[in-house]
Amino acid sequence: MSDESPVVLGIETSCDETGIGVVAGSKLLSNVLASQVDQHARFGGVVPEVAARAHVEAIRYLTHRALAQAGLHQSDLDGVAATRGPGLVGALVVGYAFAKSLAWALDKPFVGVNHLEGHLLAPMLSNAGFEPPAVVLLASGGHTVVIHMKAWGEYESLGATIDDAAGEALDKTARFLGLGYPGGPAIDREAESGDPAAVAFPRALADRPYDFSFSGLKTSLITYVREHRDAGTLPAISDVAASLQEAVVDVLVEKTFNAVDAMGVKVVGGGGGVMANRRLRQRLEEESSARGVKLFIPDTELCTDNGAMIAMAGAQRLTRGETTDLGSDVSVSLRLGA
Ligand code: KG4
Ligand code: ZN
Repeated sequence: MSDESPVVLGIETSCDETGIGVVAGSKLLSNVLASQVDQHARFGGVVPEVAARAHVEAIRYLTHRALAQAGLHQSDLDGVAATRGPGLVGALVVGYAFAKSLAWALDKPFVGVNHLEGHLLAPMLSNAGFEPPAVVLLASGGHTVVIHMKAWGEYESLGATIDDAAGEALDKTARFLGLGYPGGPAIDREAESGDPAAVAFPRALADRPYDFSFSGLKTSLITYVREHRDAGTLPAISDVAASLQEAVVDVLVEKTFNAVDAMGVKVVGGGGGVMANRRLRQRLEEESSARGVKLFIPDTELCTDNGAMIAMAGAQRLTRGETTDLGSDVSVSLRLGA
């Protein structure tokens, strides 16, 4: 074991993915995932009870697989980390209790990790050089927030959505358009052949530099589609999807770079499932190179929920000597910095 790069197993069960990863410091050793998407798809969204039970079924064999892929035995671990919150209570409890039991049985330190900190630090797993001070856009199914990362472990939330998260808006609108679940990847695919300027969907909260609102967009899309369908003037669904995606991407990019400019940082990062969106990645790259700032976005499979990001955030805290008591519990609405 090295003090600088402890070997940590991380467990992520905050929502509908059982994710387990092993890292040595910020070096990725393994990352395995059991997605429950198929089990939730017929309900059009995540069913908490189904999620918790699926985590129970997957967690033990995935832990074995993560260790085997890393070429390690559980006795090689220097610590165990798990997502403490935010998330669904039943789902969180499964991973948290399993991780605490493992740490207790191995007599190794335990670290409870904020899910958002995992997403925030995920760029480190893909690229060397990601470091504070930075502005990070975190956009997922549950969160949309612009964070000023002042130093390791020191985060200020500059702004966030006042209603739906970006991924939630994409999921809901895709469902209305009949594109299936999860909606983000479906809209990404559909938009590829569409015209982003076909429909002028609203860009909300122009007067608030770092905040977002996506619920109006959803209403506007539904109204537009109904009216134009009745009139027989509805453009191709690919055009509607591309226009909707452009409206979401526009505000995400604009507010992120409002923060980059105001904070004067030279490093910008991205995390969360929506960051897998190809148009968003392209636009962030264009804006970053135009300003001469460095952009760090994780590989796609590290943008969505995964255990490796939790392992790495846990390893970083362990290196700073921070551990979590085995008597601690999950926290469904854990805030960043708590
Ligand atoms: O980070 P994540 O896996 O889970 C949460 O913590 O929420 O994010 C899931 C969200 C979903 O809303 C999904 O539709 C969205 O990320 N997403 C995407 C893409 N891939 C996943 N959104 C847009 N484009 C994508 N390619
Ligand atoms: Zn997430």
